[in-house]
Amino acid sequence: MSAGYVWGCFALLLCSIIEFRWAAEISCRSEEGEPVDWFLLYKLPKYMREESPGSGLEYMYMDSSTKAWALSKYLVNMTQNALGQTLMQLYEAYESKNDSTAYAVYNDDVPYSDHYSWKQGHTKGFLLLDKSQGFWGIHSIPRFPPFPEEGYGYPPSGELYGQTAICITFKYNQFAEIDKQLLCYNPKVYNCSMPSVFYPDLPNLQKLCAGSELPLSPWRRLSKLQSAGGENFLHFAKSHFFVDDIYVAWMAQQLQTDLLAEYWHHYKHDLPSNCSLQHYVFNINLIKTPWNSTFCSFHDHSKWCVSRLYEDEWTCIGDLNRAPPQAWRSGGFICTQNRYIYKAFRHLVFHYQSCSNSSVWL
Ligand SMILES: *[C@@H]1O[C@H](CO)[C@@H](O)[C@H](O)[C@H]1NC(C)=O
Ligand SMILES: *[C@@H]1O[C@H](CO)[C@@H](O)[C@H](O)[C@H]1NC(C)=O
Ligand SMILES: *[C@@H]1O[C@H](CO)[C@@H](O)[C@H](O)[C@H]1NC(C)=O
Ligand SMILES: *[C@@H]1O[C@H](CO)[C@@H](O)[C@H](O)[C@H]1NC(C)=O
Ligand SMILES: *[C@@H]1O[C@H](CO)[C@@H](O)[C@H](O)[C@H]1NC(C)=O
Ligand SMILES: *[C@@H]1O[C@H](CO)[C@@H](O)[C@H](O)[C@H]1NC(C)=O
Repeated sequence: MSAGYVWGCFALLLCSIIEFRWAAEISCRSEEGEPVDWFLLYKLPKYMREESPGSGLEYMYMDSSTKAWALSKYLVNMTQNALGQTLMQLYEAYESKNDSTAYAVYNDDVPYSDHYSWKQGHTKGFLLLDKSQGFWGIHSIPRFPPFPEEGYGYPPSGELYGQTAICITFKYNQFAEIDKQLLCYNPKVYNCSMPSVFYPDLPNLQKLCAGSELPLSPWRRLSKLQSAGGENFLHFAKSHFFVDDIYVAWMAQQLQTDLLAEYWHHYKHDLPSNCSLQHYVFNINLIKTPWNSTFCSFHDHSKWCVSRLYEDEWTCIGDLNRAPPQAWRSGGFICTQNRYIYKAFRHLVFHYQSCSNSSVWL
């Protein structure tokens, strides 16, 4: 083997590595800045039980390669974290005014806005895509993410309580489905770019972005989605015409599983645990982290639920609380039977309320 041959191979390898990085497609990014199929982030509340107050910026993180919660070495306000690395692509697309990428950021609680629209969805998220692929983020953080002019940051409004965020990488063909789900959501889009090449495939996002009148939406819509890495998801979207508790009236019955539900318990008349229909929904009261710290659902603004029974393995993450006024709001949940995601969330449940008002400790 000649030295020239070895060098040739080396140069080729180097070029292909550079090529790969250059051509890196739009995707969720891990804490190392690498493309990942999905990641989950659970920001811990400032107030944990029997501990002095934290910064309100620490979080647990897991993704399709790490497969279990780990306490992040970053804080949620740092650009190096997975949310920062992922949204960086959106901010770059904004700056380059690139006609081949589309993005939207939406939140019922818009950064710097005093106006609140009760008619639009109680839903928070972001998406960025080109005609090859992109990502969709669903989270619970008020006034997040910042306008693209500002670059990455984390608002004080998201510090006090627990928050969740999920990012999933999808091939382009899945965004036509996401576009239909978003019509049910009727989200408050506060910044976006929808170049005309996307109009035929994403007509609803085009209208949401332009702020123009929307076609009539179905009462609710269930959608099967598959991530770029082949993970299956089921997405529930309800409009404000579907006036009911999404957990009991739809998700538990549709998934045919009893659910343990974690959500923001800040309403005077929160809905109690419910055993009226075939599949039950129980309210979680206490969360325990893998490091044995505990916190009350009162301090958690995230919204998720898991199957009570381990064999069912459903986990759903989304937008709505189990509170009577939220029956009138649009929003949704993304669900999966990924076993690592299920284990990660199911093991967080420390205490939930049964229907007879007795407590269930785990
Ligand atoms: C993150 O927040 C902490 C605590 O408020 C602050 O000390 C730090 O400077 C912030 N970091 C960034 C990058 O904003
Ligand atoms: C625009 O986006 C496309 C697809 O993501 C990419 O290939 C191209 O390099 C981008 N152009 C600029 C100027 O950023
Ligand atoms: C939002 O996005 C558009 C580009 O689509 C931009 O022109 C506008 O200035 C952005 N910022 C705000 C604060 O609306
Ligand atoms: C349980 O939820 C269903 C669906 O929202 C509702 O019809 C029923 O009245 C609830 N049961 C109780 C005891 O609140
Ligand atoms: C948490 O508590 C359990 C049981 O009390 C114990 O076995 C485990 O080692 C503890 N874990 C940590 C990280 O302290
Ligand atoms: C459960 O307790 C609450 C208050 O603690 C009470 O209002 C409610 O009626 C009780 N429900 C049942 C089924 O006993």
